Amino acid sequence: MIDTHSHLFEEEFKNDLNECIKRCKEKNVNKIILVGFSCETNRLALDLSKKYDLFYPTAGIHPSEAGINYQNDLNDLYSFVKENKVYAIGECGLDYHYGKDNIDYQKIVFKKQIELAIAMDLPIIIHMRDATLDTYEILSRYKGKIKGVMHCYSGSVEMAKEFIKLGMYISLGGPVTFKNAKESKRVAVEIPLEKLLIETDCPFLAPTPYRGTRNESSYVALVLEEIARLREMSASEVDEITTLNAKKLFNI
Ligand code: NI
Repeated sequence: MIDTHSHLFEEEFKNDLNECIKRCKEKNVNKIILVGFSCETNRLALDLSKKYDLFYPTAGIHPSEAGINYQNDLNDLYSFVKENKVYAIGECGLDYHYGKDNIDYQKIVFKKQIELAIAMDLPIIIHMRDATLDTYEILSRYKGKIKGVMHCYSGSVEMAKEFIKLGMYISLGGPVTFKNAKESKRVAVEIPLEKLLIETDCPFLAPTPYRGTRNESSYVALVLEEIARLREMSASEVDEITTLNAKKLFNI
């Protein structure tokens, strides 16, 4: 298994990271994409990846980080990805959940990161919250040139199919295990397995039965098991294909 979206460099893991990694290995989680979201966390992801061979770092600027200093942040990102090996650009995208005050900055920073990913021939990791149509509209301008993943996707089956047409994979996390997550369960069944990825987004969004507690990368096994159950397939079949998808997308 590959956890395609993890923030194991966060404070929450500073006391037991080695045990977390041990639990990953026990669960057959052998590769983990460490996703940066700011100048500081891009560096943390990179540094940690140098210490452990199961980690693959990315670098990006989260929409909630997009503000008046965006040009400085972009310049930092440009030099960071030039000087260091990263496996994707992101997470980046649009987030209107906490308001639209910085919407213009969000859009600029998002577009610049898409263009960076295209220039570097890297996948993009998309964070999208309460901003489906604007995200779709911006991505569609780059149709045919982009590849990437809609991370922790929580939208409709119909929109998932539209994002796939733009070159995106659909990644499911802990919420697919929640009892009331009807639409996510539909996505898990109706999207072609060749377009699905699995992730944790840890430390957030722990799957059932750990909902509400700290999430960690080994719990991606619970996401896999739920998708297998919903699709009436064996976990090993779903594992094989989603692992192959992740290897292909991130070139690992
Ligand atoms: Ni994240």
